Amino acid sequence: MLTESSQWQALQSHFESIKNTHMRDLFAQNDNRFLQFSMQASGITLDFSKNRITDETFALLIDLAKAANISGARDGMFAGEKINSTEKRAVLHTALRHFGDNQVKVDGEDVMPVIKQTLAKIKAYVNGIVSGETKGYTGKAFTDVISVGIGGSFLGPKIMSEALKPYQNHIKVHYVANVDGCHMQDVVAKLDPETTLIVTSSKTLTTQETLRNMQSARQWFVEQAGEAHIAKHFACVSTNVEGAKALGIDPENVFPMWDWVGGRYSVWSAIGLPLALGIGYDNFEAFLQGAYDMDQHFCDAPLEQNMPVIMALLGIWYRNFFGAQSHVLLPYYHYLRGLPAYVQQLDMESNGKFVTKQDTVVNYETGPIIWGSEGTNGQHSFHQLIHQGATIIPADFMLPLYPHHDVADHHAMLASNCFGQTQALMAGQTVEEIKANLAGKVDESEIDSLAQHKEMPGNKPSNTLIFDRLDPKTLGSLIALYEHKVFVQGVIWDVNSYDQWGVELGKALGNQVLSKLVNKDEALDNDASTNALIEIFRKR
Ligand code: F6P
Repeated sequence: MLTESSQWQALQSHFESIKNTHMRDLFAQNDNRFLQFSMQASGITLDFSKNRITDETFALLIDLAKAANISGARDGMFAGEKINSTEKRAVLHTALRHFGDNQVKVDGEDVMPVIKQTLAKIKAYVNGIVSGETKGYTGKAFTDVISVGIGGSFLGPKIMSEALKPYQNHIKVHYVANVDGCHMQDVVAKLDPETTLIVTSSKTLTTQETLRNMQSARQWFVEQAGEAHIAKHFACVSTNVEGAKALGIDPENVFPMWDWVGGRYSVWSAIGLPLALGIGYDNFEAFLQGAYDMDQHFCDAPLEQNMPVIMALLGIWYRNFFGAQSHVLLPYYHYLRGLPAYVQQLDMESNGKFVTKQDTVVNYETGPIIWGSEGTNGQHSFHQLIHQGATIIPADFMLPLYPHHDVADHHAMLASNCFGQTQALMAGQTVEEIKANLAGKVDESEIDSLAQHKEMPGNKPSNTLIFDRLDPKTLGSLIALYEHKVFVQGVIWDVNSYDQWGVELGKALGNQVLSKLVNKDEALDNDASTNALIEIFRKR
């Protein structure tokens, strides 16, 4: 078991000796701390100097990574080994953005030709729609896309579309995931079937919400256009190509994906079609190129200078030794506001596991709770708990140097808040400093008590990620960085980061309950609470 390894034990005893060390002192002792604990890769600068680490911590964390054979595991993933052990599948999202010449084999077969063919098909399709050459059933060019899908078949394209808003063309993409009818109703209300394309994205083509939403979109379309025009207005992305054709979708508009691409890793596949429609094919390819850049860094850089490895190890340091339950993502850029939700799915669906690859139950914590939102908004709400709460919450701050606007000095103000927050979290403010500030301003008798409440303990860890501009390439690198971070943590925790059995029971019970809600004569054999809830719904 991991916790019995000499590397883990060494970290445990080191933790005991460092747990009360304040980062203020570490900075005071070492003028080179920033240089020592910062690095660049794929156009991203990572400042990890505001972490509760010393040279020794760093060396011990690297030892842990070496003992886990991160390099071997990484090479296995890139080479198409079936590392998703419970589903006996390779994990090859990296092949989808592979621009090298070498082959990538699954079961002895090179998958690169089919990936390239699919990219060519995406390119031709996207160019046809964006240029207006491909027209709707009344001869008008397309203006809107309804993208139907959920989970990994939704969040990637949606959040990347949001992040790349400045690169948007005239095609407006409307994403519908939830089976909550309000959303579909609102979306179709503002659209015209004559100029709307409907893309259904589902790896399995069995997901309840997606199938229902697709049927509703289809009904809305057919009411005005009739069945005859479905072929022109519907596209589908799925591993179930035959199933898509059986739904009446023109085979020309069916885009394949493969079981060696996990849903939450699938934005690089044809699942990214709605994204590509909104930003154009060249920008989509630049996004893939950025991820490829980060893949190369991950494969080539030694562990000590490897950005995803370093971020993963820091996460483990806090999760397993400091007992941090969550990790907060704080993008200081409006267009990147969806990133916390994206990484939340990526990380929590990947490493939210309690059984190791050796089928044993862990005796240590695994994936953290991922959350967050855009800065500066959070500063006026939940940052209070990060600064003064009784729990430790490591943070990733993110900031582009050049914004997609030139509105006065907004960006300098945004940056100042970002950097100021990391400083406040690290340094805090001592009771003595606060007392000195209060002297003469409040009644002498209140100073002690007030200073106590105003104390900012500091010593709160953060990473800062800076890049020039949030362009398609940089976004690709950033997303791949988090993917590889999750991979490294999964290897160290010895969990299968690529299955998601935990979501299956809910799906099955949802279907079972649905049948009871709709068929009111069906006997209720659930627990008393669920039975009562069903009864209340039936009586509405
Ligand atoms: O919610 C679980 C999940 O299986 C995700 O992993 C997946 O991305 C999502 O459902 C949607 O599945 P599909 O693409 O097959 O519709």
